[in-house]
Amino acid sequence: MKPNAIVYTSSTGFTRQYAFLLGEQTGLPVYALEEAKKALPAGEAIVYLGWIFASQIKGYGKAAGRYRVCALCGVGLTPTGGRREEVRKASKAPEDIPLFTLQGGMDRGKLRGMNKLAISMLTKGLQGQDQRSPADEEMLALLTRDDCYVSLENLSEVLEWLRTQ
Ligand SMILES: Cc1cc2nc3c(=O)[nH]c(=O)nc-3n(C[C@H](O)[C@H](O)[C@H](O)COP(=O)(O)O)c2cc1C
Repeated sequence: MKPNAIVYTSSTGFTRQYAFLLGEQTGLPVYALEEAKKALPAGEAIVYLGWIFASQIKGYGKAAGRYRVCALCGVGLTPTGGRREEVRKASKAPEDIPLFTLQGGMDRGKLRGMNKLAISMLTKGLQGQDQRSPADEEMLALLTRDDCYVSLENLSEVLEWLRTQ
């Protein structure tokens, strides 16, 4: 089914950037999940994008409760295309929904409360290890660089899927 809108949940802004890039490329209207509740009738076919928290796509449960989610994008810190099955499982997304993972970024200056504390503890834990695996080193760099990896190229698979609908 062809989606009629793009709906997203973002904490520090990277998912929002992807949602609007997708909107620009497709001409579909873009709504934050909260505003979609007023602007978009229940049952609409949507592409849903949410930031990844502990492997789960934030807001997916709420979005799926109100809309027909045709495709799902999780925006996290790790590279685009990775960890799809882990994210699908943690998000409890059915196998028949196309799921894409997109690399967002880290903006520690925008983190608040428990999210800030969790990232700070994870960073300190990795920094305190005597020996770090290459994967740990990579994660530490991603956590401390405060970089943005949002790009149109990262959306190419999503755009290709949309073209076939
Ligand atoms: C508490 C917390 C947990 C996170 N867990 C994950 C995770 O499991 N996997 C991942 O790839 N990124 C994880 N991230 C990183 C965010 O998904 C990443 O920074 C994302 O780009 C945030 O998107 P946003 O700017 O739209 O909020 C986590 C971030 C926070 C603050």
